[in-house]
Amino acid sequence: MSKIVILGAGNMGTALAVVLGEKETNEVVLWSVEEDVVADINSNNTNSKYLEGVKLRSSIKASGDLKTSLTNADFAVFSVPSNIVRVVAEQAKGLIPEKAVIVDIGKGLEKNSDKRLSEVLNEFFPNPIVVIGGPSIANELGRKAPTFVVFASEKEDVLSSAKSVFETDYYKISLSTDVVGVELCGALKNIIAIMAGVVDGLGYSTNTKAGVISNGLEELGLIVEKMGGLKSTVYSLAGLGDLVVTCTSPHSRNRRFGELIAKGKSKDEARELIGQVVEGEKAVVIAKKIIDEFKLDTPLIEKVYKIIVLNEKPDV
Ligand SMILES: NC(=O)c1ccc[n+]([C@@H]2O[C@H](COP(=O)([O-])OP(=O)(O)OC[C@H]3O[C@@H](n4cnc5c(N)ncnc54)[C@H](O)[C@@H]3O)[C@@H](O)[C@H]2O)c1
Repeated sequence: MSKIVILGAGNMGTALAVVLGEKETNEVVLWSVEEDVVADINSNNTNSKYLEGVKLRSSIKASGDLKTSLTNADFAVFSVPSNIVRVVAEQAKGLIPEKAVIVDIGKGLEKNSDKRLSEVLNEFFPNPIVVIGGPSIANELGRKAPTFVVFASEKEDVLSSAKSVFETDYYKISLSTDVVGVELCGALKNIIAIMAGVVDGLGYSTNTKAGVISNGLEELGLIVEKMGGLKSTVYSLAGLGDLVVTCTSPHSRNRRFGELIAKGKSKDEARELIGQVVEGEKAVVIAKKIIDEFKLDTPLIEKVYKIIVLNEKPDV
């Protein structure tokens, strides 16, 4: 039996609970600070706030008590927005058992410190860390759409045990030791997704969208390699796969953000309509620092910076 505690019962945390709940050998606990969400899961086996229309296995339990939730955990999965990872890590410090593997499904970089999320978690825990990348929209995964992801860790033995616990017939896991590349792809593709949304908002079509995806991939490659990741990761599920899904899915909040801006909404109006964090907004500021430092030729990312940070007129 493996006990998996998911920290954050939002859109992705709940979808992952559906996946993990497929195995009778998994004990799944969803921890949330939202009392209504905890009650909904425990009373109705649903999380209608974050994953409407999906029934959870009755064996999946929710709790608002972090200490009890984490007792005897084999895996602690962080499934909160990137700006909340540090907040939850501070509370979980000393509560995650020594034997547990920490998994981060969050995509983004920490504002102010510019750190990757595994770097933030490393500050708090000595435990091995696995990061998840690849095209995995929670609303689709929660409805059991076949989904291909990549798990990355520096420790290969940890990767194989995580795969055996998390993989199902519709959640297919590839393994990688390129933690830097997987995390950077997951964070930086959101910038390109904003430009894909601008394409949609301006009424352009597939020629332009495909160009943005292709040029965006090249630019991701330049940054990832410069920061110590592998070029091959950029062409894998973590890079190309995630880029295609975020640039084309109607669910992608970064793509929608770009679309709304191109249709004349202000950033505040766009954020309010989306109602969740738009990770690409932060990522483009961090990417711009890297681009300037290393003098990289990345016109598409520069353009997103001009539109989002300098408020220039949206254009491709
Ligand atoms: N939704 C997706 O399709 C998807 C896909 C891949 C990766 N991700 C990543 O997963 C992470 C979570 O995304 P999501 O879509 O589930 O977000 P969400 O907004 O649906 O859920 C966020 C969760 O964080 C919790 N939370 C927020 N502030 C908190 C605080 N101060 N203390 C404790 N808990 C707090 C909320 O209660 C909620 O459970 C993000 O980093 C995102 O990039 C999401």
